Amino acid sequence: MWLGLLLACTGTDDSAETAVDPLCVDAPIVTYETFGAGFVEENCQSCHASTSLDRQGAPSFVVFDTVDDVWALDERILQVAVPDPPMMPPQGGTTADDRAKLEIWLTCAEMGT
Ligand code: HEC
Repeated sequence: MWLGLLLACTGTDDSAETAVDPLCVDAPIVTYETFGAGFVEENCQSCHASTSLDRQGAPSFVVFDTVDDVWALDERILQVAVPDPPMMPPQGGTTADDRAKLEIWLTCAEMGT
């Protein structure tokens, strides 16, 4: 019984890992180095850096100092910063092109890059 359950779960995880998101087929390679660092610095760090002088109410657990900080919240970032209009940054202002790159980065890049 338990073994069956375990195997069932493992099988599901494997197929999830190998399935390629349609978004990533023929997508440009986007990483923290080529895009993410600059995007986060320009659009998010004024409120979400640990060194921010005025967080404007940004929660203390939402800090984007490093690539690992960003990946720790990748799902939340996709939800709040990719839609048009985005919920983050609160004042908006990101371009459609940048939001598309953000989605490709956090969906298709190897986690942590
Ligand atoms: C002007 C300040 C400011 C900027 C710039 C800003 N944020 Fe925020 N952020 C906030 C505040 C305030 C909150 C808490 C209120 C809220 O959740 O709406 C927050 C919350 C969040 C959360 C947690 C939301 C949740 O419900 O879990 C995430 C994730 C986030 N921001 C991501 C980003 C990203 C990504 C950017 C850049 C694209 C960004 N923020 C830019 C102020 C900012």
